[in-house]
Amino acid sequence: MVAFKLLTVALVAGSAVAQTFRRTASCPKLGCVFPPDQVDFVAGQTFDIRIEVQAPVNGSEAYNNGKPDPNFSVKIGGEGAELMDVTTFFGIADPAVESYNFTYYEDLFASQAGAKTPVNVLAKSYRNIQLHNPGKYKVVLTYNGGMTTEATWEVLPLSDCKKAKNVIVFIGDGMATSMVSAARLLAHKTVNGRYQSRMKMDEAPAYGSQMTHSLDSFITDSANSASALFTGKKMTVNGLNAYTDSTGKGFANPKVETVFEMFRRITGGQVGIVSKAYIADATPAAVCTHTSQRSQYTAIIEQYLNGVTGNFTWFPWQGVDLLFGGGAENFLAGPGNGNVSQFERWASHGYQVGYNNTQLQAFDNAERALGLFTRGNISTWLDQHVYKDTLDFAVTPQGARGAYDQPGLKEMTLKAIDILHTRAKARGTGFSLMSEAALIDKEMHVQDVDRALGDLLELDDTLRATLKHLEEIGELEDTLVVVTADYGHGCTADTKFLEAQTADRAKRNAVGVYQNSGLSAYTVPEGVLPTNHTQFTSPQGDGFPVTWDPRYTIAHGWAAIPDKREDFKINSYHERIPAVSNTSGYFFNPQDNPAGFAMTGNIDVSEGQGVHSLVDVPVYAWGPGHELFRGVMGNVDIAFRLAEALDLGKTSNVTAPYTK
Ligand SMILES: *[C@@H]1O[C@H](CO)[C@@H](O)[C@H](O)[C@H]1NC(C)=O
Ligand SMILES: *[C@@H]1O[C@H](CO)[C@@H](O)[C@H](O)[C@H]1NC(C)=O
Ligand SMILES: *[C@@H]1O[C@H](CO)[C@@H](O)[C@H](O)[C@H]1NC(C)=O
Ligand SMILES: *[C@@H]1O[C@H](CO)[C@@H](O)[C@H](O)[C@H]1NC(C)=O
Ligand SMILES: *[C@@H]1O[C@H](CO)[C@@H](O)[C@H](O)[C@H]1NC(C)=O
Ligand SMILES: *[C@@H]1O[C@H](CO)[C@@H](O)[C@H](O)[C@H]1NC(C)=O
Ligand SMILES: *[C@@H]1O[C@H](CO)[C@@H](O)[C@H](O)[C@H]1NC(C)=O
Ligand SMILES: *[C@@H]1O[C@H](CO)[C@@H](O)[C@H](O)[C@H]1NC(C)=O
Ligand SMILES: *[C@@H]1O[C@H](CO)[C@@H](O)[C@H](O)[C@H]1NC(C)=O
Ligand SMILES: *[C@@H]1O[C@H](CO)[C@@H](O)[C@H](O)[C@H]1NC(C)=O
Repeated sequence: MVAFKLLTVALVAGSAVAQTFRRTASCPKLGCVFPPDQVDFVAGQTFDIRIEVQAPVNGSEAYNNGKPDPNFSVKIGGEGAELMDVTTFFGIADPAVESYNFTYYEDLFASQAGAKTPVNVLAKSYRNIQLHNPGKYKVVLTYNGGMTTEATWEVLPLSDCKKAKNVIVFIGDGMATSMVSAARLLAHKTVNGRYQSRMKMDEAPAYGSQMTHSLDSFITDSANSASALFTGKKMTVNGLNAYTDSTGKGFANPKVETVFEMFRRITGGQVGIVSKAYIADATPAAVCTHTSQRSQYTAIIEQYLNGVTGNFTWFPWQGVDLLFGGGAENFLAGPGNGNVSQFERWASHGYQVGYNNTQLQAFDNAERALGLFTRGNISTWLDQHVYKDTLDFAVTPQGARGAYDQPGLKEMTLKAIDILHTRAKARGTGFSLMSEAALIDKEMHVQDVDRALGDLLELDDTLRATLKHLEEIGELEDTLVVVTADYGHGCTADTKFLEAQTADRAKRNAVGVYQNSGLSAYTVPEGVLPTNHTQFTSPQGDGFPVTWDPRYTIAHGWAAIPDKREDFKINSYHERIPAVSNTSGYFFNPQDNPAGFAMTGNIDVSEGQGVHSLVDVPVYAWGPGHELFRGVMGNVDIAFRLAEALDLGKTSNVTAPYTK
């Protein structure tokens, strides 16, 4: 039986640092610098700096009756050099000061009491800047009468490896290694333990793994994980290539340029997007859009076409070259879309538009294309190929039941390569493509493991066909192909809050998911800010937690469990015995975590323990630069290695002409 372990974690505790609900992600102090401390850049990568000075009216961090000091300054300098004002350093005008307020709950107790903390803010954003020289930089924000917040950034060295002309990045959404193992087991036969065939992924000349945690929590969503993969910066849940500032608004947040945008800007190359999800979903959107709120579908579609507009434009983006997937609902004329049909609008911008596989295959390879084949997500591989009766319920872009002529990931990807390659060749450039096996994740969410594994196998089949096709068109030698995932499928728990509740359902509120899942509280003593980089030594020596019983703990979990109670606290008295048996099988152990909440088992009642589980996500690579993808990586390293292989690091603002 394959089991999927749900990793859930919590935050650093301590009364001085309210962790359950952060005031502002990445900003534990009252002065915020975005991008935050510990960020790396590709040389010449475009970004925005934002600084905020916050003054909470009440709560544990109350400052000056909620009045932030208007006298604040931000300075920057290279390592060892004198710091100078950011405006002088970058040669830009001093932006206007923004003034606003927001409220938040300090922790679950404050939330329960309905006691919000109002915070007044002064802020400035410095737009469209680049750091060109490799090395370290220090940023110092001085505020509120002498408080300081520092950030150390590093511009990584320029590339010195063999260069790739083209790049294809496959994302198996939610594809943890345990899923790959399960898919292999399903689809490939063993004789006496020896596989008679293997997955294409198994043949990768470079294999590594990457750690997926986000800027402010262990568990990521597709938006912040894809942003990490494509910008090299950890983000917050829901953030697409933009840091989540305290405005609570989706736009004007500090942005970071992705490797796909750099590829377009620096080489004038083609950029294509393929996904089995609705096309405004987070992973496709992370290729080239910027908002702290992934649900801004209309804006995301606008950015695919025109880039970020208004005062926040960095360079003339001129639109993606192709977009294939589901999600016609966001392109239809309706009130949410200003009553404009995006299909008509894109056609007027020169895109071929298609609604089924027949039309997809008939697209002229020399022209840009928009192909959306269903209202919502594309149907799963299993529905398209095995349980075809289910297609009676799949909805066409026009709204009719019975979307029988849908392409799969393979059909969309191969056609995308043909179009991008033809267009790139005509223009003397390279091409880039992001292709997402999105339904692995979506099916895991609904616990439909068979459909998830079917789509994982479809990804492997697409990979096999892609490598073969690249060889046929003579691009294999020049194309870097990377396959990876964004996360596996699980949270943190506030054990103090959990223990204080009496009812099971109230206890469950102590479990923090996604953005409330927090950071490890195991390695930093209670009450110490997460930005304090002092190395704390465990009583057991380096490599062990400083503590095993913080207030905010891992809310671990497994998809395959016996009856048990959870309080997510260490059982210091003896090894856990979650369930005990009588002649009717295993039941809750009344002595195990009596203050916890009950989780009903979902496996054979003769089993008293959960069964085996999940890991970091894998990385596979082929082609020029593939060797960069070996070993254990962070998700952000993927962006830097892509940039290295594509030679995107530049010591000046390089821009190449691009022709539609
Ligand atoms: C403002 O802050 C700067 C440096 O932080 C300091 O030199 C200056 O005296 C301050 N001015 C006022 C009016 O407080
Ligand atoms: C927050 O801003 C609003 C609108 O500017 C203002 O009316 C309100 O007094 C402010 N709240 C606090 C606590 O300062
Ligand atoms: C802060 O003050 C507001 C307004 O007076 C109040 O509603 C809120 O409960 C207070 N919050 C805390 C955390 O004390
Ligand atoms: C854009 O910036 C200009 C100059 O700073 C300003 O006058 C204008 O109001 C801004 N427009 C928007 C939409 O923010
Ligand atoms: C880089 O060049 C582009 C194109 O000329 C321009 O739009 C952009 O503002 C420049 N960026 C910087 C940081 O100078
Ligand atoms: C869109 O159409 C609806 C219904 O006809 C109308 O109420 C709404 O004002 C329209 N919106 C725009 C932006 O034109
Ligand atoms: C494909 O879509 C076009 C346009 O909606 C339609 O005319 C055609 O019949 C469809 N083909 C199939 C095989 O469904
Ligand atoms: C597509 O997937 C998303 C995320 O799981 C889900 O919310 C949505 O309902 C799906 N759409 C359709 C039409 O199945
Ligand atoms: C970091 O935390 C340690 C332990 O609490 C403390 O001794 C040290 O002074 C702190 N350093 C900074 C820079 O705050
Ligand atoms: C076994 O234990 C469960 C839970 O305590 C109880 O409901 C059940 O009646 C017991 N069965 C037998 C045969 O003792």
